[in-house]
Amino acid sequence: MLNVIPQPVSILENGKEKGFTVFSEDTVTPMPCAKDFILFKEEFFGDRFKDGDGEETVILTIDNSVQQDEGYCLACRDGKAYINAKTETGLFWGLETLKQLLLQGDGTVPFVKITDYPRFSYRGYMLDCGRYFYEKDDVKRIIDLMALHKLNVLHWHLTEDQGWRVEIKKYPLLTEKGSYRSHTNFGFKPHSGYYTQDDIKDIVAYCHERKIKVIPEFDVPGHTVSAIACYPYLSCFDRKLSVATHWGVKHDILCAGKESTYQFVFDVLDEFMELFPDKIIHIGGDEAVKTRWKLCPHCQAEMKKHALKTEDELQMYFMTKVNDYLNEHGFKSIMWNYNSIGGTEHLSPDIAWTVCGISDGDEVIRTELNRGRKLINTNSYPYYLDFPYGWNTLERVCEADGALTENDSETWGIEGCMWTEYVPNMKRLEFLTFPRLGTIAEKAWAEKGYASFETFSHKLSDYYSLLDNFGVNYAKPNKVCPSAVYKALSSLWFNRRVFHWQGLHNLIDNKKVEITAKKN
Ligand code: ACM
Ligand code: ZN
Repeated sequence: MLNVIPQPVSILENGKEKGFTVFSEDTVTPMPCAKDFILFKEEFFGDRFKDGDGEETVILTIDNSVQQDEGYCLACRDGKAYINAKTETGLFWGLETLKQLLLQGDGTVPFVKITDYPRFSYRGYMLDCGRYFYEKDDVKRIIDLMALHKLNVLHWHLTEDQGWRVEIKKYPLLTEKGSYRSHTNFGFKPHSGYYTQDDIKDIVAYCHERKIKVIPEFDVPGHTVSAIACYPYLSCFDRKLSVATHWGVKHDILCAGKESTYQFVFDVLDEFMELFPDKIIHIGGDEAVKTRWKLCPHCQAEMKKHALKTEDELQMYFMTKVNDYLNEHGFKSIMWNYNSIGGTEHLSPDIAWTVCGISDGDEVIRTELNRGRKLINTNSYPYYLDFPYGWNTLERVCEADGALTENDSETWGIEGCMWTEYVPNMKRLEFLTFPRLGTIAEKAWAEKGYASFETFSHKLSDYYSLLDNFGVNYAKPNKVCPSAVYKALSSLWFNRRVFHWQGLHNLIDNKKVEITAKKN
């Protein structure tokens, strides 16, 4: 049986005995979307197909009778593979399917007809390069693996308490100083790295060749210690800080009452908008603790000026102002919904949400949908891929439907999130990502109701073989569906992070700020 991940809408198979070899030397219709497939063909099947007659054997056709923008129809017969699609994106996904067929058939494919299109238009993977910097080639490897799974959004988390990763010409300190932390959760070795603007352009182009959009994240007003470490005026009370070294929610965030903060945010966004042409920027909004804002005269004056009753409302005002700036330049924004955020009536409905708040029930979802807000499902259970398998088993990921409501059209899409506080390298990243990403891709692409633990379990060994072709360090079955003992141990191991919460440090720090506030 053929196994394609994510599962196509329909596969009509005609028996392997009619299998054939697809390739001869110049074989693929020369279109930009075929470039990656040609590289694949050379890498995996090299010289084996060099003695063909030069006739095209993979025939790509733009075909307006295919209804869905990303849909395609793949027919393999009589020594040829025909892919028809309405767009080059559809053709590209058809070629990704063909890759999987060829790998399974060791260079041959059976007579088959596949009709296919995605369930959701947003199929994301979030990569946190703030905690740990991932080299450009590693990011490209992740992008290749995303394309294999027909994921089409790289949500690239580039700014964090623990590191600033993108060159901003107007604020050189952000990378000179803000990209370096003196030690990490794992010990006393420093960690650093950043992407130059040329690196970013290269990665964006790499994504676009693979029909993947790049949504960068500039996380504000929280998770900004690396920026404050470079430019203390950005914070309330002009705090002199170092780039954060450890896990934990920080209390120093951008001051929402100073004009200079907004100027900084807009300046950074100006450069982001140049670098990221997909016209969407994620502006964070998560875990913005209001300890400083409550004491800061600038923040309090800003609240008064705009008749805002709570600091949470001030955050809504802040996010809306940032969103409005992006809108003025033809960009849209996304932010994390977060259970700490109060009344959203001050928040522009134009800002889409990556929904991660565990305790946000159906009522919040319904209210926001009624306001016209677009929603992406990133609920931490099951979509946080940094959670060990003992917390977030493969079964749990498989059992979640993926949609936020009964009606699929109310969910923009799904995104697996790779937070990297405890993921310092590709080996660990791949272990945590795979095979869970396979089932996330099935929820995002395959028809509603198709993907279950049972269907995925049947495909697992073929899926592992597929990943073996690419040398992926996936987690083995005994890890992904762990025993009770392994579950307990993995929880203990993961919860050790609370030792890095720096609770005492926060208490002392908060007291210091309180004294400063009283003096002034
Ligand atoms: C988040 O979990 N900090 C979005
Ligand atoms: Zn302030």
